[in-house]
Amino acid sequence: MRSATLFAFFGLAAIAVAGNLSRAPAQSRRGMVATVHPVATQAGVAAFRQGGNAVDAAVAAAVTLGVVDGHNSGLGGGCFVLLRTADGRFVAIDGRETAPAAAWREMFLRDGRPRGDLSQTGALAIATPGALAAYSLALDDHGSLTLAELMLPAAEIAEQGFAIDRIYAQKLADSADELRGFAGSRAALLRRDGSPYAEGDVLRQPDLASTYRSIARHGPDWFYRGQFAEAVDRWMRANGGLLTAEDFSRYRALRREPLVTSYRQATIVGFPPPSSGGVHVAQMLNILESFDVAEMFRQSDGQLSEPLAHLLAETMKRAFADRAHWLGDADHVSVPRGLISKKYGRELAATIDMQRALAVEHGAPPGAASDFFPAFSHDAEKHTTHIAAADEAGNWVAITATVNTTFGAKVVIPGTGVVMNNQMDDFAIAPGSPNAFGLIGAEANAVAPGKRPLSSMSPTIVLRDDKPIMTLGAAGGPKIITQVLLALSRTLDGGQSLPDALAAPRIHHQWAPDAVFLEPGFSPALTEGLSRRGHTVRGLESAGVTQAIGVADDGVTFVGVHDPRVPGLALGY
Ligand code: DON
Repeated sequence: MRSATLFAFFGLAAIAVAGNLSRAPAQSRRGMVATVHPVATQAGVAAFRQGGNAVDAAVAAAVTLGVVDGHNSGLGGGCFVLLRTADGRFVAIDGRETAPAAAWREMFLRDGRPRGDLSQTGALAIATPGALAAYSLALDDHGSLTLAELMLPAAEIAEQGFAIDRIYAQKLADSADELRGFAGSRAALLRRDGSPYAEGDVLRQPDLASTYRSIARHGPDWFYRGQFAEAVDRWMRANGGLLTAEDFSRYRALRREPLVTSYRQATIVGFPPPSSGGVHVAQMLNILESFDVAEMFRQSDGQLSEPLAHLLAETMKRAFADRAHWLGDADHVSVPRGLISKKYGRELAATIDMQRALAVEHGAPPGAASDFFPAFSHDAEKHTTHIAAADEAGNWVAITATVNTTFGAKVVIPGTGVVMNNQMDDFAIAPGSPNAFGLIGAEANAVAPGKRPLSSMSPTIVLRDDKPIMTLGAAGGPKIITQVLLALSRTLDGGQSLPDALAAPRIHHQWAPDAVFLEPGFSPALTEGLSRRGHTVRGLESAGVTQAIGVADDGVTFVGVHDPRVPGLALGY
């Protein structure tokens, strides 16, 4: 038995789990922020102190991450913002990057062959960034501080510099060769001699400071319709890219309809397409509803037993088979709503053989030809990281933000300090051609002008009896979706505390490749058992990084947790 602090469920008797508390989580009744970087978390808490709410705190953390954690996220990337407002509404703001107007379906083919190098590095990899537009929209509608108030402290950190941590140093070392290939990146992120900074070195980013100050002064228009867009346009023309100032001026963060489903007694609020996360987390939970997962956890003392690991792997496999076939930007393709129907969940559950792994293909959800997720209504317009924030007024925030893989396209537009995303690689650049995460896709996720590439980002908010009890999300490409599923099942079914749920070793299956991936920490017997059931089992160093906030069993104290796999920070206010 592993935990003392209980993740509380309102209206239900908490299931007491005795034992030692190995990781004391942050606790506070007023507000909480959890991110992968202490400096960003502190910026969030500073926003609370200035009188801000959880939306302000999360955006403060997000723009600070763009300074101290730029290999994962920043203004050159995109994000999904999911909110539960103090007055009980759910809001989904889509800040996903968008393909240039000049993009075309075969743009990454050369001599008929898909070229992942082109969708991953350099000019063609870059899509119109959406993070700033989304943060700005979230603040305008739901924050209480201004964008300037949140960006200026981050500009100060960029100007003064910050000490590079172990992870940043490692990412720089891994990416230095590619970063050196772009003058702007070399100037902004490497030493004068082109070598990478080491852990403990102070990285100063004066250009990024100046970009942040210009946005603080002139607003997001400086970025989307002003000097930043013009600088990108010039650089793209000189470097064979397609993005134009017009793509920037056309960019809009979109309000979408959050995906509200249920899992047993809990309400699960997720992000709709172009996230695949909300759909597939809901779909997998629907499958699991046919099984007594709580009893399976009980029988194995909260561990993933062989039958439970098998069930999870088979569930994940079925969802990712559907992802590869059906999922794409709902503004461009028809994504069946039936994927998240309870009936379809039961149908898929019935195809699971608990004794052996089965090969699966995508399924046929009900209404596949007639009932689709809504396209964005224009009338309504008004390497990744996850930020969780909540406040006593009842605002709960889940933001997942990314430039895609480490340092995105490896391009910093000269003079701006902004690391540009390589989100074009999240399209299926050719049918069946794996992207950087090994994901394959079909027609639904083909490249098209103005289309948003499919994402695995899965910001999620959980309620019980209409009261929020958890906000969570993750980084790690497709492993985002499976991390969120595991965190939900461990807490909701297994009654585990959030710290224990996030620390526990993870399992991942994404259909292609047809293999179960196991983090270190599982017993050899589990590997053998899964192999006996017909799974190909592979090791995985880390299945990604999850941040979450829950509620203690008094029902009012926030419990904040950052993933112990990274030196992040959860801090109360
Ligand atoms: O949107 C997506 O699914 C990916 N671009 C996320 C990339 C990611 O999580 C990288 N992180 N470690």
